[in-house]
Amino acid sequence: MDRIRIVGGNRLNGTIPISGAKNATLPLMIASLLTEETLTLENVPRLRDVAQLVHILGNHGVDYAVKGKRYGQDPLAGQTIHLTAGAIVDTVAPYDLVSKMRASFWVIGPLVARMGEARVSLPGGCAIGTRPVDLFIEGLEAMGADISLDQGYVIAKAPDGLKGAEYTFPKISVGATHTLLMAACLADGTTVLNNAAREPEVGDLANCLIKMGADISGVGTSTLVIKGKESLHGATHSVLPDRIEAGTYAMAVAMTGGEVMLKNGRADLLQSALDTLRDAGVTITETNEGISVARNGTALKPVDIETEPFPGFPTDLQAQFMALMTKADGVSRITETIFENRFMHVQELARLGADIQLDGQSAIVTGVDELKGAPVMATDLRASVSLVIAGLVADGETIVNRVYHLDRGFERLEEKLSRCGATIERISA
Ligand code: UD1
Repeated sequence: MDRIRIVGGNRLNGTIPISGAKNATLPLMIASLLTEETLTLENVPRLRDVAQLVHILGNHGVDYAVKGKRYGQDPLAGQTIHLTAGAIVDTVAPYDLVSKMRASFWVIGPLVARMGEARVSLPGGCAIGTRPVDLFIEGLEAMGADISLDQGYVIAKAPDGLKGAEYTFPKISVGATHTLLMAACLADGTTVLNNAAREPEVGDLANCLIKMGADISGVGTSTLVIKGKESLHGATHSVLPDRIEAGTYAMAVAMTGGEVMLKNGRADLLQSALDTLRDAGVTITETNEGISVARNGTALKPVDIETEPFPGFPTDLQAQFMALMTKADGVSRITETIFENRFMHVQELARLGADIQLDGQSAIVTGVDELKGAPVMATDLRASVSLVIAGLVADGETIVNRVYHLDRGFERLEEKLSRCGATIERISA
């Protein structure tokens, strides 16, 4: 398996292009199941999760085409893909495919909405807590689906189609919001989703669905109202920039010092994390080109955070921020409220010399003068990148094993960082 080798100590200076958002791309690709016409997605990142989803959709009968390389094209520019679900030939999403990526469970919504049935394996994905699917089931049941569980599969049936319904999420869930939103587009009548997730990726999906002919109001709010249509049609949509990738590199620059332009990064999608970085002493400037991040000479101040649904501090940046705080001038408290088991990076950061104590849902981080390079093991996507951030300032060599996780969600990470002066390379197995 590939590894990443980092020699810490270099400041980052230059420009990092921000890719299309993984967490928007996945539901957008799944939305292709809702129409027999072609959905064209632009600014799609080259990621393992995207390739995996192509495979899963292909199993349902979705044709996939990708525009070839163009003369003079930056290898870091997003790609354009075409997805056509002319005929859905299989409504089963099997265990061996779904277990590799939790988001593939979301096909259950469009499949049952368009075909009247779906048999989808319970999901796998990052090992960060139990991540149940009760809200998906409750919501689809509210829309008239008959749901049963059989040998690890969720079976959803609605032979006469889904019916519009009012459903209030008892807890905010990004995936369940995506899924019910897609399903409601083909339901008979009006669906009202209360306490829906407001993450920008939900808005991106809704905007694409509207281009496909859906009638959705309340985009960007916690109440989505969807008037179902008989069918949707093809459309072209450009994926919004990845706020988690932007936030990750912002923290990398905050960690090493230097000045980097996060090209195409959108500060409005990342306000709470950027405000936190400002509190930590980092200079953030929003420009037409993107987000400029700089730290020159000032010490890092400790800042307490608590993860929250959007617009709060994102759980997907918690591990990276913890890495940053290991070098702060004092003690910070980092509280995780979204997932109950998202501290697997703590042990690995400790291998690099970090001082972190766990206290229930919180981690108490006492900044240290020096981190020291070591071999570390990534256990999930965001945890792995927190180890890269720590490695960028650790004294000596850090080897991040199981790079597989990084490739799921960060496009050409080593290339983007080395272009800005980091000593980082991939060692192929
Ligand atoms: C998505 C993101 C992930 C991010 C997370 C929270 C993608 C591909 N993944 O994951 O990167 O960390 O949002 O912002 O977009 N829950 C239930 N029952 C359910 C569904 C969820 O209890 O039926 C719980 C989960 O266990 C978790 C919380 O709700 O504690 C939030 O999870 P959710 O928002 O659904 O996360 P994902 O959509 O899986």
